[in-house]
Amino acid sequence: MGIFEKIPELPVDPILGIAAAFKADPHPGKCSFIIGFYRDEHLKTPILETVAEVEKRIAEARLKREYLPIDGDPEFVNAIEELVFGKTEDRIYGVQTIGGTGAVALSGQLATKWTDQIAISNLTWANHWKIYQMAGLKTEPYPYYEEKHLCFEKMIENLSSLPEKSCVLVHTNCHNPTGLDLSHDQWQTLLELTEKKHLFPILDMAYQGFSAAPEQDAYAPRLFLEKGVEFALTYTCAKNFSLYGERAGALFVVGESKKKMEAVSSQIKSMIRGTYSNPPIHPAAVVKGILRDATLHEKWLTELSVMRQRMHAIREAFIDRMIKKDPEGNWELIRSGKGLFCSTELSTKAIEKLRKEKGIYFAADGRINLTGINQENIEVVTDAIVAAK
Ligand SMILES: Cc1ncc(COP(=O)(O)O)c(C=O)c1O
Repeated sequence: MGIFEKIPELPVDPILGIAAAFKADPHPGKCSFIIGFYRDEHLKTPILETVAEVEKRIAEARLKREYLPIDGDPEFVNAIEELVFGKTEDRIYGVQTIGGTGAVALSGQLATKWTDQIAISNLTWANHWKIYQMAGLKTEPYPYYEEKHLCFEKMIENLSSLPEKSCVLVHTNCHNPTGLDLSHDQWQTLLELTEKKHLFPILDMAYQGFSAAPEQDAYAPRLFLEKGVEFALTYTCAKNFSLYGERAGALFVVGESKKKMEAVSSQIKSMIRGTYSNPPIHPAAVVKGILRDATLHEKWLTELSVMRQRMHAIREAFIDRMIKKDPEGNWELIRSGKGLFCSTELSTKAIEKLRKEKGIYFAADGRINLTGINQENIEVVTDAIVAAK
């Protein structure tokens, strides 16, 4: 018997695994709404002009390729820290990570030092469950989304019963997969609960600048920092810099004081050293090259707002169509959603039917990436959703 004989085969990943099936699908009119890439009206994921400009400069400068420190490029980390928190502070410990996924994974490993569980919104980005389970944490869903509503009261009631020091994963903005976010008042309520129950929020920020200007999207982390609670923030530059495969990300852990962060930083550095040793140079050089150059920074903000405007316009067009074609579907309720995604609430069976019969691919949880829609395919897609219901 071969050595691998007894290793069980696992189901394909609900997002990336299905994307591979889409590639292999011979259906002539196939279209995919699965992965979280921003796409323009031509359904292309852009290379930002600011990115191209910095890459030219990097090539000309013949950048050194020595190893970065374990916790990455400090100038990159500081630039993201300022973008998120509006300033740097010595009670914030930041590290460069391998994308947002790397930051989420490190946050999970760190959390095992004081807890054995994490509460995660139901629904959420499908990978959250796997990442935190692989870190060794018990994952408990808390109510977040029900029938096109954000069920905030149920969420707070549920979180109120968690044991002290429990981790709570909350999306800062552009909630994946529903697009529905907490209001400022609701963040305030969550902050009060965090203080009262001594919880540890992990704020996942994957879409800064996709709902509103970057400083507006940073409302929650700035509020939590200002009020002095302890928390972590996981960050990716994949979406807002259109740098998906470059894996630019960061993790920030906010403690009571710089002194108290020394043990935390030693633990995180040990985790990194024991897995991938240190992060890559190129993505950090690109992002800091944009953020640290006043002209490019300004230009990037404009590029970001172009992406934001398309996401907003396509959501409006999609919802208008859905309301007409499916008046009973309560589609108006998700008009206030932000970012790439909305949840169609289609059943697994309906999603399979769309895939097999029409070559239309949605993520397994019914999530669609709205920027997969353009003027050419909007009728086909909205008709297909109604027919599959
Ligand atoms: C909510 C959320 N967190 C984290 C990530 C991971 O980001 P990255 O692709 O940089 O690993 C994503 C990516 O889709 C996401 O949507």
